Amino acid sequence: MAVRWIAPEFGGPEVLTLVETEVRSPAAGEVTIDVRAAGVNPADYKHLAAARGSDRSLPLGVGYEVAGVISAIGPDTTIASGGGLVGDAVVAFRISGGYASQVTVPARDVFAKPDALDFPAAANLLLAGTTAAEALHVTKVAAGETVLVHGASGAVGVSVVQQARLVGARVVGTASEHNFALLRGFGAEPVGYGPGLVERMRAIAPHGVAAAIDTVGTDEALDATRELLVDVSRAVTIVGTDRNRAAGITAIAGALPASAAFRDAARARVLAMAADGRLVVPIARTFPLDEARAALELVRTGHPGGKVALVP
Ligand SMILES: NC(=O)c1ccc[n+]([C@@H]2O[C@H](COP(=O)([O-])OP(=O)(O)OC[C@H]3O[C@@H](n4cnc5c(N)ncnc54)[C@H](OP(=O)(O)O)[C@@H]3O)[C@@H](O)[C@H]2O)c1
Repeated sequence: MAVRWIAPEFGGPEVLTLVETEVRSPAAGEVTIDVRAAGVNPADYKHLAAARGSDRSLPLGVGYEVAGVISAIGPDTTIASGGGLVGDAVVAFRISGGYASQVTVPARDVFAKPDALDFPAAANLLLAGTTAAEALHVTKVAAGETVLVHGASGAVGVSVVQQARLVGARVVGTASEHNFALLRGFGAEPVGYGPGLVERMRAIAPHGVAAAIDTVGTDEALDATRELLVDVSRAVTIVGTDRNRAAGITAIAGALPASAAFRDAARARVLAMAADGRLVVPIARTFPLDEARAALELVRTGHPGGKVALVP
């Protein structure tokens, strides 16, 4: 019998309930995966909390990405990256209900796992990686340009930094001081957030920045973007707020059809970057699957220090 976490009601991590579940056999176009690691993302606790106005039906499954091993595959079915045999190591994204020991998911969302990543890293590659890819696409970041990344030490931020460096951009990224060495290791120039951010940025980038990518959604990040960016059409936020909207800053989100289409198409490219070592996923901590509430609490602090994975 498999187990999975469900939310019988909306709320904080404490509403999560671990239940035994019969995982159905895969039909044509489906794959069953023995989960080796489930990625934990801020979206998991945000969607859990979204009681009012939510169109999600209860009980809610939690978790959008996993890595594992194929345990069964439907008739006449191949996975998105081609082939697919029982025993193959794979990643799956965008799925629902990933906090589980086993899942049956659409084969179109299943790809071969890059050997370069272990299961916890692979389970955390695609949500952050495709979001970062879209943010760079929307802001049209090009070689030689300076891009400001708010929250560069976060899961999405670290992926933005690496992908921006791959296109040849100069990256200045905000972070807590204890994360400066991490950012320097990825070729970014760190700057502390907090009072005086604009002045510190002006010292680093006296001519302003060509593009700005916001992964924190604070007023301070927005104000700094407006002060430092030459052309507001080259700013994007992944944490849409009323102030961001009023300022005309583009917001992207996986629930938006254009973002979903971009990210689905970007999965193979992000996996290829990871496969040859150009893109890595720093892991802060793994938790046993039955400690999902604690894992989610760590992510909810806003300072997990890397990605978090649940390991059945
Ligand atoms: N729209 C989308 O499609 C999408 C996709 C993915 C994520 N998101 C959202 O984007 C946000 C970041 O996600 P993530 O997975 O990257 O989170 P994360 O790994 O928890 O990273 C959080 C980042 O925010 C920084 N931070 C925390 N408080 C800050 C403050 N007051 N000022 C400036 N920076 C601060 C942290 O810096 P230090 O730890 O160095 O202090 C860290 O870099 C979340 O709100 C998430 O829900 C949206």
